[in-house]
Amino acid sequence: MSLTRNFASSIVKAGQRSQIAGASINSRTFVTSRALRKPALTEAITDDHRKLSEYYNEIVNSNDNDHKERFGNQFTWELARHSVAEELIVYPAFEKYIPGGVGKEHAEKDRKQHHKLKELLKDFQNMKVENPEYVPQLKKLYKHLEEHIKEEESDDLPALERALELDENRGNSESLAKTFSRTKAFVPSRSHPAAGENPYIEGTVGLPVAIFDHIADLFRKYPDGKISPNPSTK
Ligand SMILES: [Fe+2]
Repeated sequence: MSLTRNFASSIVKAGQRSQIAGASINSRTFVTSRALRKPALTEAITDDHRKLSEYYNEIVNSNDNDHKERFGNQFTWELARHSVAEELIVYPAFEKYIPGGVGKEHAEKDRKQHHKLKELLKDFQNMKVENPEYVPQLKKLYKHLEEHIKEEESDDLPALERALELDENRGNSESLAKTFSRTKAFVPSRSHPAAGENPYIEGTVGLPVAIFDHIADLFRKYPDGKISPNPSTK
């Protein structure tokens, strides 16, 4: 009897040990995967950056004008929406959450860089693909964009995410990421540098301009499977 009880007790204890070991492996795996995962807002923004790089490479590595035109429109559509959404959502977040006036400095620097990028994008989006300056103009624009992306990913976003890790700001990276993605649905899909980078003015003038852009997108060529991309699904 006592032997049976001891055996049963050993089985239960072994089961408990394996559960604890399993839990500890699971929690280690969870912690590791969380540690490897980028914060939500950084993930949303860097995902756009990678797409822009992909579209750029499709254009500069192609000899086919139809292919270049389709990806040129896709590049413009992605960069225009991404830029305005950052100006409306991300740069005000720099100012709000990064303390000591540093966030304001990040935001002002990025707004200046965006203005230059939007001027270069406007020139590019108005070019016919047959224009010998089509690819050189894109390369000129991309050089500025690469520099801007590098600074955003290595300085600005890490500073914001560090501020968002504070207890009082917890969860805001996720909610900002959602708002950023939703905002891209209703902002202009072509470059309008004259609208400036002030979120209050840009937000007001952006909506009617966006409607005009989105209708005109219906008549532009896009890569296969992305014909007149519907901003509301992105
Ligand atoms: Fe940006």
